[in-house]
Amino acid sequence: MKFLVTGGAGYIGSHMVKYLQKKGFAVDVIDNFSTGNPWALDDCNIYKIDLLNKISLNNILSQNIYDAVFHFAAKSIVSDSFINEEEYIENNVTASKNLLDGMIKYNIKNIIFSSSASVFGPVNQFKIDENQPKSPVNPYGQSKLIFEEILRENASKSNINAVILRYFNAAGADESGLIGEFHRHETHLIPSIFNILLNEGSVLKIYGSDHQTKDGTCIRDYIHVNDLVNAHFLAFNKIILNEGCFDFNLGNGNGFSVLEIIKACEEITKKRVNYEFVSKRKGEPDCLVADSSKAISELNWKVSYKDINEIIKTAWRWHLRLYSEII
Ligand SMILES: NC(=O)c1ccc[n+]([C@@H]2O[C@H](COP(=O)([O-])OP(=O)(O)OC[C@H]3O[C@@H](n4cnc5c(N)ncnc54)[C@H](O)[C@@H]3O)[C@@H](O)[C@H]2O)c1
Repeated sequence: MKFLVTGGAGYIGSHMVKYLQKKGFAVDVIDNFSTGNPWALDDCNIYKIDLLNKISLNNILSQNIYDAVFHFAAKSIVSDSFINEEEYIENNVTASKNLLDGMIKYNIKNIIFSSSASVFGPVNQFKIDENQPKSPVNPYGQSKLIFEEILRENASKSNINAVILRYFNAAGADESGLIGEFHRHETHLIPSIFNILLNEGSVLKIYGSDHQTKDGTCIRDYIHVNDLVNAHFLAFNKIILNEGCFDFNLGNGNGFSVLEIIKACEEITKKRVNYEFVSKRKGEPDCLVADSSKAISELNWKVSYKDINEIIKTAWRWHLRLYSEII
């Protein structure tokens, strides 16, 4: 079998590539390297193109037979999406539509799409299942929801099989320590904490101390990146046997506040984090925790990293290597 991974040089995409390669499959990657890293890839065909470039994209799709496309490529910084709203629509909707059109044109049937918990707005229950209202509170979430709808429409109209996977917060790194999370502009909590710890004198900004949560800081659900990529492969198995469009929320099912994550990082690294409170960011829900029971029952998905400390340990091991050998 042969797979195409868009955004394969990015954090989650590179773990997908490694997972598929370990299973012995051929993997091609499309990436424009806007946030991806060449060192994250090994032993695969890399097409350095932008999905907005329809001609180059169609050339690739016409010359290869792919069993499925894992579509990770996107812009994904919530705060940035308020400033560059049009770019988010172009990169996350128009570029994704180019990919889908090319798949339809060249008879590639299966797509697994990285969506996000950001498609949900404020909800009334603690754990968010797939039936909760989708009312994004930021343009990033809006861009993900628009493409979800395009996929759903095309599944029936154009005979495409699709799985929409809404991740909560991806975290951790491959056990090999060879790949992990690295963004030049880091906005994710755990790597931001490690950056603070490894850059003496710097201070972590905590956005808001007055969220409607137990300690006033945001609560999020952290799911290990390799649990996520495993769910992608199970999703592929699902659409091999069942036609249509399916959606699943993917998370650990446990919520941790920012202060709890800081404490866990301090215990694991044996270092003290300097932090200060600043005002809340626009479009950040107080609490996002997944109800993944649908993925567990329908995909037969099992979360192997249940303990947040184990997730943080893999991330810390990677981060130390990142600082000593890569950047
Ligand atoms: N990291 C998370 O916690 C999280 C949570 C929910 C959803 N997601 C989604 O998962 C996917 C992967 O996230 P990530 O954290 O690995 O991000 P990332 O920024 O590390 O990876 C995205 C990759 O896509 C590439 N890319 C972006 N636009 C492109 C384009 N137009 N053409 C070609 N390549 C392009 C980038 O260069 C990068 O390699 C994204 O779709 C993101 O929205 C991530």
